Amino acid sequence: MGVRAGREVATLTQESAHSPALADVFLPGPVLLLGAPGVGKGTQAQLLMADYGIPQISTGDILRDNIARGTELGNAAKGLMAQGQLVPDQMVNNMVGARLEQPDVNRGYILDGYPRTLGQAEWLDSHLVSLEKAAGAVVLPLVAINIRVDEQVLLRRITGRRICAQCKHIYNVYSKPPKQEGICDFEGSPLQHRSDDTETAFTERMKAYNSLTAPVIEHYSRQGRFREVNGDRAVEEVTGTIEASLRQLRQAGV
Ligand code: AP5
Repeated sequence: MGVRAGREVATLTQESAHSPALADVFLPGPVLLLGAPGVGKGTQAQLLMADYGIPQISTGDILRDNIARGTELGNAAKGLMAQGQLVPDQMVNNMVGARLEQPDVNRGYILDGYPRTLGQAEWLDSHLVSLEKAAGAVVLPLVAINIRVDEQVLLRRITGRRICAQCKHIYNVYSKPPKQEGICDFEGSPLQHRSDDTETAFTERMKAYNSLTAPVIEHYSRQGRFREVNGDRAVEEVTGTIEASLRQLRQAGV
């Protein structure tokens, strides 16, 4: 156990993650999902969240929520997102810093879409060191999984994507349609098409990904806390490979 901000929190330590008593209740600790737009980060994060009972932290979802509520942050991000450009580092770093203050992250979490510039990765590295010091315990380091899918497959995934505004469940008109066209299976509410899921915005998002996010993959790869998985398979197969990779990384003492 560690103590942060004056209250006791359950902190997943190096020791507890490798304890035989915990072998059958494997928790992956902090996980980062990397990959180009549409590779399946959100889809996989939702499944990992259900399997491990740890939260998904999606910077894209937090920004879209701010846009929907018309906050200052949302208004600043709206135009950039619609054009497929990245939101400034400081804005997303502050958002993630605030989210990591919530107690539900203490058993681990899944970062989806952040960090996606080298500046964000470096800020996060030092922020996690500060949080560890404040917790007074050795916290498992972040491990990164890069999901890889060929670019020509991605455009179809992006243009076919539909999302439930209420439960955030992700559909695809080609590969995962809802039972009733345009309606969420769970909420019965109309599905939405993201404003940046157009061919033009996708091209810009890929440019930003190739120039700014590719170095982030190199950053985690160099640190040895990294695995790459093929995302061009059935969703459940991809989840199985990610979960096996997480176990391997933690069993290797990462
Ligand atoms: P964000 O929301 O993070 O978008 P993204 O990274 O472009 O990723 P996507 O959400 O488009 O794709 P995904 O990989 O999650 O795929 P999904 O699972 O939905 O960011 C949006 C914008 O916000 C950015 O452009 C930027 O402006 C801003 N932003 C966010 N974070 C930022 C940051 N850190 N810094 C600066 N700016 C930031 O799947 C896609 C589709 O494929 C779905 O329809 C799904 O059903 C289908 N699918 C999934 N897996 C499979 C499979 N195995 N087989 C067949 N279909 C599949």
